[in-house]
Amino acid sequence: DWVMRDHIAEAVESIRHQVGDEEVILGLSGGVDSSVAAALIHRAIGDQLTCVFVDHGLLRLNEGDMVMDMFVGQLHAKVIRVDASELFLGKLAGVSDPEAKRKIIGGEFVTVFKQEAAKLTSAGAKGAKWLAQGTIYPDVIESGGAKSKKAVTIKSHHNVGGLPEQLGLKLLEPLRDLFKDEVRELGVALGLPPGMVYRHPFPGPGLGVRILGEVKKEYADLLRRADAIFIEELHNFIDPASGKSWYDLTSQAFTVFLPVKSVGVMGDGRTYDYVVALRAVQTSDFMTADWAELPYALLKKVSGRIINEVRGINRVTYDVSSKPPATIEWE
Ligand code: XMP
Repeated sequence: DWVMRDHIAEAVESIRHQVGDEEVILGLSGGVDSSVAAALIHRAIGDQLTCVFVDHGLLRLNEGDMVMDMFVGQLHAKVIRVDASELFLGKLAGVSDPEAKRKIIGGEFVTVFKQEAAKLTSAGAKGAKWLAQGTIYPDVIESGGAKSKKAVTIKSHHNVGGLPEQLGLKLLEPLRDLFKDEVRELGVALGLPPGMVYRHPFPGPGLGVRILGEVKKEYADLLRRADAIFIEELHNFIDPASGKSWYDLTSQAFTVFLPVKSVGVMGDGRTYDYVVALRAVQTSDFMTADWAELPYALLKKVSGRIINEVRGINRVTYDVSSKPPATIEWE
């Protein structure tokens, strides 16, 4: 629509005016905000933008490749992908406390990003002068007011406080005045796939807080495959009353890995394998949430597929806890 086209033209003009011929760095996470910021800035200044995508190895199935395909393959943006999965898994070995895991993941993320950014800023006169962030209006308000412990972690992970100063860079925040739904509309208008822009939120620490206790590669691999099945079936099942998929009818849905083993039977044999929990909630603000009354046929399909297709998991449970008192994530 023309309002959005006007808005894009104005934003593009203002980014060009601000940045001139200088180089910009942006930390791309695959989330909505950083993706839309990247697409907008790329529209404005093209190759003057370099995105740094730190892959901590705790992303969903094929997520890293999808991010690269979108930004490099389709938008032709410059993206440096840093595969840091071994580094992160190494640092997380033996750590089971949820907040300790968050600290490690957030801290390493900043360290790795800074190393890459430092390379890009040290190129003399042609070195980057700007750090772009996908800060949106609610983040601006939140960081002015009282913060919960988790909010601090969220901020320190995504919109890294103090980082521009530490890197000697000027801050570029083209989404600062926008609400989430405006950011999504902008993303679609910029040509990002609606499926990416309207995806459920995914926490910065990723699967690190969806594997209970110690994070291991084996667990992450099993969880990724189980979760992909759950998400695929949520898209497949359409509610006849609304005509919407169960993915669109839920605010957030995911699979949690439980590092306990239970007994099962398969063919003539006994199995002794891991358990996963499915979680799906409906909420308007994520402060309170109801567990979603998913159709039994959907739950049946998902559990059947996970147990048959993901060797190593032999039991699937459904989480029927609302928030409060339970949180949405299990950690
Ligand atoms: P809880 O579990 O607190 O989650 O009910 C509320 C919302 O916040 C997300 N969440 C996080 N997001 N870093 C993030 O970026 C985190 O450490 C984190 N912890 C929870 C959660 O996915 C839900 O949308």
